[in-house]
Amino acid sequence: MACEDAVIATNDDAAQCKRFAVEKGYWTDPYISQIIPKGFSTHAPEINRGYFARVRSIQILMEKFLKSTQCNCQIVNLGAGFDTTYWKLKDAALSPKSFVEVDFPPVTSRKCHFIKTKKALIEKISSEDDEIMVSKTEMHAADYHIVAANLKNIPELEKKLVTECHLDKDLPTLFLAECVLVYIETERSQQLIRWISDTFNTAFFINYEQVNMMDRFGQVMMDNLKTRDCYLHGVSACASLDTQMKRFTSNGWTSADSLEISTVYNCLPQAEIQRIERIEMMDERELMHQLFSHYCLTWAYRDLKDVGLAQIGLT
Ligand SMILES: C[S@@+](CC[C@H](N)C(=O)[O-])C[C@H]1O[C@@H](n2cnc3c(N)ncnc32)[C@H](O)[C@@H]1O
Repeated sequence: MACEDAVIATNDDAAQCKRFAVEKGYWTDPYISQIIPKGFSTHAPEINRGYFARVRSIQILMEKFLKSTQCNCQIVNLGAGFDTTYWKLKDAALSPKSFVEVDFPPVTSRKCHFIKTKKALIEKISSEDDEIMVSKTEMHAADYHIVAANLKNIPELEKKLVTECHLDKDLPTLFLAECVLVYIETERSQQLIRWISDTFNTAFFINYEQVNMMDRFGQVMMDNLKTRDCYLHGVSACASLDTQMKRFTSNGWTSADSLEISTVYNCLPQAEIQRIERIEMMDERELMHQLFSHYCLTWAYRDLKDVGLAQIGLT
């Protein structure tokens, strides 16, 4: 159980880092401060730039998916934590038909509580005739669902997504896993990836997580996490860009691409990079490069409906 608690705690770290970067001005998110209280720690410029690249690159792929499906689609955020994408898409008038978030019960219950008690969050979900069903750990509204499930338990996940959230297996569906699969044994995450491709005939997957983990830097990262009882059980899939892509192509997906974040960073709009690099000075660019070469963005598709998922990429 301590191990699961440690994984759950990684959500607070991610949310704190995002809130910190938002307050520094790296990107705009009026909702994050509603969900995560202000932390006490500060974060180095390379961490903030890394979060910027993470959030922005996922946003680019997601918006391309929404545009190629004309929002006639669904989004499932696996291990969503305190993510605020649902509200940001509402503001951008880019909402999918259904947006589902999955996480462990201790995370979903805190999120449900924050949503219920914050006007800025709840008012975007409710409309006069929409009924919102809320339990301690779950929430069901017309186009938004939070469900508590363990991603390793496929029958439970299937029941929640298909029976309780009424996801349509024939509608194009985007699955997002942002720093999540690395905590799950590779065999189990492969079962999850296989189940998705078996179940949804038109699907896109965005996976953001570690890569090149078999070197000294990777070992130090794992040793540090171990001191907090946090284990990267899925690290074998994070050996290289190749292992990252193969977990999709050998599990029913038509094609996959993967880029180190150092490459992703150079693909982002250069005017934005120039703007964020003015926020904080950085003496040691080498540190940033080292960090960025240990994370990657992978995307995969399966497009039986031929809605143009093959064309989605960063550039
Ligand atoms: C590092 S946090 C990332 C949160 C969010 N995706 C983000 O990037 O801001 C990892 C999240 O994955 C969730 N998670 C990890 N393993 C899970 C599992 N087996 N089932 C459900 N959620 C899981 C954790 O509870 C946590 O919220």
